[in-house]
Amino acid sequence: MAEDLNIVAGTKTEQYESLLPQIGGLLEGETDLIANLANVVASLKEQFGWLWVGFYLVKSANVEASAVREEELVLAPFQGPVACTRIKKGKGVCGACWDKAETIIVPDVEKFPGHIACSSLSRSEIVIPVIRNGEVLGVLDVDSVELNQFDETDKFFLQKIVELIPFP
Ligand code: SME
Repeated sequence: MAEDLNIVAGTKTEQYESLLPQIGGLLEGETDLIANLANVVASLKEQFGWLWVGFYLVKSANVEASAVREEELVLAPFQGPVACTRIKKGKGVCGACWDKAETIIVPDVEKFPGHIACSSLSRSEIVIPVIRNGEVLGVLDVDSVELNQFDETDKFFLQKIVELIPFP
């Protein structure tokens, strides 16, 4: 059974360094993807209190059986305000992250062309791709009410956290 998360104060690096092994412990021995994604977003939300933390997973699009096979990002475990359910490749920050297969830091969402505003409170954002065997399987999206919330430290540690998650 999981114990309470040990929430620490300190620099951002210190907070991530405390959180990383705890997330590792939560994921250890568990193969259920939804359970693992849910605990990762809960851990990040508890430690940092950001507006929105969640995953989108690459899944089949909502299309008729006869239509061409298409994929899109579909909302997965998250914490925060309700969010848009589906995002197409290349659309918004999440779709751009999927398309480019690289982390995107947005210091001011109003200055990102095509940004999808799920909450009017969001001011800055970081999106990390989940990559396995060269393929993007989903993205981790984090939104903040503060401008310029995310930097290279967040990128470094959030990428490490995403790498810990066993994807089937
Ligand atoms: N802002 C994102 C959409 C997802 S929500 O922020 C939860 C985007 O532009 O892709």
